[in-house]
Amino acid sequence: MIIAPSILTADFMNLAKEIKRFSNAKLLHLDIMDGSFVPNISFGPHIASCIAKQPIPLDVHLMVKDPTLWITPFSKCHPKYITVHFETENYQKAIKQIKQLGIKAGISINPSTTVKSITSILSEIDLILVMSVVPGYGGQSFISTTYDKIRELIKIRELKKLNFLISVDGGINDTNIEKLDNVDICVVGSYLVNLKNPKNFIKKFE
Ligand code: DX5
Ligand code: ZN
Repeated sequence: MIIAPSILTADFMNLAKEIKRFSNAKLLHLDIMDGSFVPNISFGPHIASCIAKQPIPLDVHLMVKDPTLWITPFSKCHPKYITVHFETENYQKAIKQIKQLGIKAGISINPSTTVKSITSILSEIDLILVMSVVPGYGGQSFISTTYDKIRELIKIRELKKLNFLISVDGGINDTNIEKLDNVDICVVGSYLVNLKNPKNFIKKFE
């Protein structure tokens, strides 16, 4: 399993230093918020392209109302994945744009969105990002109905012989991660940011 650190709650005055603390990570998760799809604003393409100068591949999570407006600006930081939300109007068009740019496409579902509602598009995507908190803020508590959703997704993946990765995002810590050993990626924000030695935690789950 890959641990993808989320820098949302990191100290942005010392961002380069903060990211260096995660230097053994295989993926770095960037939370992009527009103050409209979620009630919070994070950062935009300029800061993302500065972050792209470090070597860890980027996982861009777009929590924005119209993802089609943001694919091209964020493609400039050459991310490995761009993930858009199923709860947006233009997610299908956005997925096409992402793929056309040669970037792997992800779809994210909020805690209130069922797996059933996205089953038909699972063959078109590279990754599903299951939100285990209501998107908008770091440091929230993990919603335990997420475990059932993961089991459902694994079943569908086996049954339909699909290849998408399963990623989980929000409220993950050293306790609940023990029950997430069946997923491919765990996005860990505040728990990791607050750890003295985050590299040890990242290594433990390799
Ligand atoms: C929530 C974000 C998450 C979050 C993860 O809107 O998508 O990536 O910042 O941080 P923690 O682990 O603090 O929930
Ligand atoms: Zn995220």
